[in-house]
Amino acid sequence: MVTGKISEGAEAVIYETEVLDIPAVVKDRIKKEYRIAKLDDEIRRARTKKEARILALASSKGVNVPRVLLVEEHRLYLTKLDGGTLNVLKPSKKAFGDAGRMLAKLHNINVSHGDYTPANLLLDKSGRLWIIDFGLAEITNSVEEKALDILLMKRSVGKAEYRDFAEAYAKGSDRSEGILERLGEIERRGRYQTRTLLTG
Ligand SMILES: Nc1ncnc2c1ncn2[C@@H]1O[C@H](COP(=O)(O)OP(=O)(O)O)[C@@H](O)[C@H]1O
Ligand SMILES: [Mg+2]
Repeated sequence: MVTGKISEGAEAVIYETEVLDIPAVVKDRIKKEYRIAKLDDEIRRARTKKEARILALASSKGVNVPRVLLVEEHRLYLTKLDGGTLNVLKPSKKAFGDAGRMLAKLHNINVSHGDYTPANLLLDKSGRLWIIDFGLAEITNSVEEKALDILLMKRSVGKAEYRDFAEAYAKGSDRSEGILERLGEIERRGRYQTRTLLTG
């Protein structure tokens, strides 16, 4: 039973639904007419599967992410979180500390998120922070990828929010020294100042 559309992105449409009476959302990767049909099908399948696997890994390691309820070829069914994303809510200071702690936890299990912005962090009614949208996530121990997650957040929030975020990250991360050092290097070398990164 699919009901209302929640969101429509470049790659996927999110609908509200239920799985075995559990409130859920379904992330449906839409067909791209400009891609050759067979390749398009393979890409959507592979990305759906990859996102499901990384979500399941993060879940199993205690990172706050929605649970995977069901996986179809191009659709991912996740538990529906009740709340709003940080770019829409005007969150408290604590939320950015939680965002830093949560990213450290994710990096400690060697997952990079790939799009760690306030739009992909959801604060629920009880004040718990959740990471969503693992569409660009990777299983990796790359210091560079981890530093880029931090850089993207740095460019997406104000100075005070970033300070709270970075401080909590540094405390929680197993390799914060190397990662924050790399962040400084990336900023000095001026790489990744690309439109995609600046506009998300
Ligand atoms: N598990 C969820 N519970 C509630 N809302 C969700 C959930 N997952 C996604 N959403 C909503 O749908 C929007 C888009 O989802 P997201 O996974 O970020 O897809 P996209 O790749 O299109 O950005 C989110 O910003 C959020 O508002
Ligand atoms: Mg998103």
